[in-house]
Amino acid sequence: MINRVCDCLGCKYPVLEGGLAYVGNGRLAAAVSNGGGFGQVGSAGRTPDGLARELETAFALTDQPLGVNVPISEHRDPEPVFRVIERYAAHLKAVSLSAGNPRPWIGPLKQWGLRVITLASTPAQAKKAEQAGADLVVCEGYEAGGHDGPAELTTLILVPLTVQAVSIPVIAAGGISDGLAAAAAFALGAEGIQMGTRFVATVECEAHEAYKAALLQASSEDTVVMERSLGHVTRVLRSPFVDRVLAQERATPGDLEALLPLISGRNNARAALEGQMDDGYVNCGMGVGSIHEILPAAEVVQRVMAEALRQLQESSARVAAWMS
Ligand SMILES: Cc1cc2nc3c(=O)[nH]c(=O)nc-3n(C[C@H](O)[C@H](O)[C@H](O)COP(=O)(O)O)c2cc1C
Repeated sequence: MINRVCDCLGCKYPVLEGGLAYVGNGRLAAAVSNGGGFGQVGSAGRTPDGLARELETAFALTDQPLGVNVPISEHRDPEPVFRVIERYAAHLKAVSLSAGNPRPWIGPLKQWGLRVITLASTPAQAKKAEQAGADLVVCEGYEAGGHDGPAELTTLILVPLTVQAVSIPVIAAGGISDGLAAAAAFALGAEGIQMGTRFVATVECEAHEAYKAALLQASSEDTVVMERSLGHVTRVLRSPFVDRVLAQERATPGDLEALLPLISGRNNARAALEGQMDDGYVNCGMGVGSIHEILPAAEVVQRVMAEALRQLQESSARVAAWMS
């Protein structure tokens, strides 16, 4: 294969589904892979048994390659999660590691025959991951939904700097919800893209309909960062509930005890899975403004790639005309 990401992951298109806490279900991962992308079952917000169930669902729905995302520090004890991965390793292609130090897990995952994808938010982090043996690195810019890096580098800055810094393939993430943004990422040197928010707004995602409807209504100005006073950068959809979180943060900055009742994972699940949007928060990236339809995940993959190609052809013809 000509594309190194597709070669590594065994997929047709270099389009990854990012880990999606609570809403990265097996049916969605299978649909992404059936569409030619690379689907990943999310482990965040699931017990090890829950993860195993979603993996079984995904395996029943596709014979295409699949992955698992493990945000290491989101698990009180990540060990049982990795035991599930070891158990299913023969049926998996890759594991993506985020939120924490990937180094101790890269060796064992490779021994189980898996490819390792790590998440980086600075070129230095990507370099470290490459030195530790990562096969692919996802560079996630500040536009992304969910937890972003503290350096707050945008995708436009992060991707080309990282492409220069490492020799493993770089996958761009953050703010990519359509073919135009994908084209920009490819022009910056990314060999693949990863999307999160776009895949929430799909038929197969288990996110509540109220969450999906809110994504369709939102513009790119409707996301906001919370938990900054705690040293985290968490991009969520703005709502009256999130305004309460921000007001509490202003009143008691950095006070985890005061903030925990508002920012707990339970409140994420309540909105994302149960649709109680007034009693919880949902992750959402700035690229939400270009999501206008709930689509089957396979169609998202194929449309994004077809549109990226068209955009690149048009923009190169446009620039060539300026130069002539
Ligand atoms: C609902 C949601 C949940 C997420 N949960 C995780 C997670 O559990 N692990 C992880 O590594 N990244 C997580 N992310 C980040 C995505 O995997 C992806 O990198 C990011 O969404 C890309 O930016 P975009 O939202 O602009 O597409 C999440 C993002 C969203 C929108």
